[in-house]
Amino acid sequence: MQGKTVVMTGATSGIGEVAAVKLAAMGARIVAVARNPKRGEATLARLNEVAPGLAHRIFYADLAQLADMRRVAAEIAVAEPRIDVLINNAGAMFANRQLTQDGFEMTFALDHLSYFVVTMGLRERLLASAPARIVNTSSEAHRGARFDIDDLQTEKYTSLQAYARAKLENILFTRELARRLKGTSVTVNALHPGFVATRFGHESGGIISPLLKLVQRFAISPEKGAETIIYLASSPEVADVSGEYFSNCKPLAPARAAQDDGLAAALWQKSVALTGADWPQ
Ligand SMILES: NC(=O)c1ccc[n+]([C@@H]2O[C@H](COP(=O)([O-])OP(=O)(O)OC[C@H]3O[C@@H](n4cnc5c(N)ncnc54)[C@H](OP(=O)(O)O)[C@@H]3O)[C@@H](O)[C@H]2O)c1
Repeated sequence: MQGKTVVMTGATSGIGEVAAVKLAAMGARIVAVARNPKRGEATLARLNEVAPGLAHRIFYADLAQLADMRRVAAEIAVAEPRIDVLINNAGAMFANRQLTQDGFEMTFALDHLSYFVVTMGLRERLLASAPARIVNTSSEAHRGARFDIDDLQTEKYTSLQAYARAKLENILFTRELARRLKGTSVTVNALHPGFVATRFGHESGGIISPLLKLVQRFAISPEKGAETIIYLASSPEVADVSGEYFSNCKPLAPARAAQDDGLAAALWQKSVALTGADWPQ
């Protein structure tokens, strides 16, 4: 990874932070997006300790808000002439239905739209830096989604259903983007990290937070959970692989809905209509 620049969301905690630190140790320069200055500075300090002299950087944004998604992507595009790898990883689950300032259901905005808008905002840089890679953190939770393209805001809310849908959207987004990227040397893949003991769910509220903290005793470590992200971001084995879903560093067939090209195209069109961002064919 020497000489490569990796842009990453969700790099201040859990599997994202482990992946950022390990990729930095492999020689990558990390450009992280954080929402909290204290957590951002702590991650930057860790990166500089493990891999000094690489000019790692932190940009700040609340990735649940459309204006922030757009602004941070534009700032990074101006500041970074090369982007070799983009890792969309920031995500969360919310016990109660909340709307963002834009009127979007919070899980949909953070877990899907931020991947979409940040990637679109870095399009020119990724294409200009080819061969380049995009890595999208999804989840096996996608298999529980009862997806409805006309109900992207999950009006009849349960936290699990909103989360499962968003993680399905990560795979559909990956699939449609891979189709649009054919003929370029930019690849895009999605992954499930495993059930990992991180801060995931700790701020969800309701019963989710204590419940997750309890069952996370049986979860794998963030070091183990970060392995597939690191593999997709760096391994020569997957340099030419695109549009796939991985678990344990191996391709895995996702749910049938996640393999539906019509659904992937429909989600793309709706995401364009909602955000104004696009990646023309
Ligand atoms: N843990 C699991 O078992 C598991 C399983 C499958 C998939 N995943 C997926 O893995 C990814 C990473 O999760 P994790 O387990 O590492 O959880 P985590 O420890 O809670 O990390 C989540 C990351 O996302 C960031 N984030 C959350 N909301 C944000 C916002 N509004 N704006 C900007 N950044 C925001 C967090 O920032 P702060 O540091 O400021 O909180 C943190 O860096 C998520 O996409 C999750 O869906 C996790």
